Amino acid sequence: MLDRLNEVEKEIQSAGITNKSELEEYRVKYLSRKGIISVFFDELKNVDKSEKPLVGKKLNDLKKLAESLYEQKNAEFEKQASQVKTETDLSLPGRSSSTGREHILIQTLNDFCSIFKEIGFKVTLGPEIEDEFHNFDALNTPDYHPSRDIQDTFYVFNKYDNEKKYLLRTHTSPVQVRTMLKYKPPVRIISPGKVYRNETVTMKNYFTFHQIEGLYVDTNVSFKDLRGVLNYFVRRYFGENTKTSFRPTFFPFTEPSAELHLSCFICKGKGCRTCKNTGWIELGGCGMVDPNVFRNVGYDSEKYSGYAFGFGTERLAMMKYGVGDIRIFYQNDVRFLNQF
Ligand code: PHE
Repeated sequence: MLDRLNEVEKEIQSAGITNKSELEEYRVKYLSRKGIISVFFDELKNVDKSEKPLVGKKLNDLKKLAESLYEQKNAEFEKQASQVKTETDLSLPGRSSSTGREHILIQTLNDFCSIFKEIGFKVTLGPEIEDEFHNFDALNTPDYHPSRDIQDTFYVFNKYDNEKKYLLRTHTSPVQVRTMLKYKPPVRIISPGKVYRNETVTMKNYFTFHQIEGLYVDTNVSFKDLRGVLNYFVRRYFGENTKTSFRPTFFPFTEPSAELHLSCFICKGKGCRTCKNTGWIELGGCGMVDPNVFRNVGYDSEKYSGYAFGFGTERLAMMKYGVGDIRIFYQNDVRFLNQF
């Protein structure tokens, strides 16, 4: 038996174990319950009494040798595996990080605001949930007024207040009212924001969109001032050669009222698809604040006069950037948003 033990000892010493599965094979072969070393221990009882101490010692040594080789190799492979995990492979391609940016509509509103800020307007914001007083009544549009039908309204149920009717503002004009109720003239504000109308969603209409409202109230403000300021804005934003046209229209809160049209900045007024061959593009409404509005907010309509204007943002951005469908602004598809 001693000879066989010596043979196995040599075998173990020369075992070239190079990976984990070979190590497992080695364990099963020598160290498992049915492995060679266990078998030797079983056979020990048949060994001659005089040889037993020597063979027993040899067998114990062999077992220790086999176990220490196993431990050593196992530790080696564990270390290798953990190194693979933590080592950085510099040849791998990097992961690019994308930076967020302002939505194109916010960019457009900010561009508008910064031009008006340069000429003394202050940016003022108002709530999107309004009451009928600020959105309609104070703006000279009482309940029976037919113009309420033009702006299809989303009403909001307020369980704490059944007296007043709440709604999602249909335009940014209630910010005019809030400002005038709070501050005495002179007032010179610009208010950008979201508005809501219960309209059928199409390529051109959405149930929400953005407007920017302007208001200037002081002594001796005239329609000439309104034209001057809007002409200045239009030329700064759309280019020096842009022409404007003020066409009479009706708004309950301004008198006289006008629609502001621009010579088309795409075809320079010659006629193209964007301006439907008219050479002109409608930007929004404007006019001189109706004396009834002043009365509603407690301003002296004999002493003060003022102008107001309101532009849509989506339509303008659609024309400027060649966007064919208003809904795309609200889908938040990064492939669209990344272009701006
Ligand atoms: N509030 C009007 C609208 O939404 C626009 C407007 C604002 C017109 C201010 C005149 C003065 O249609």
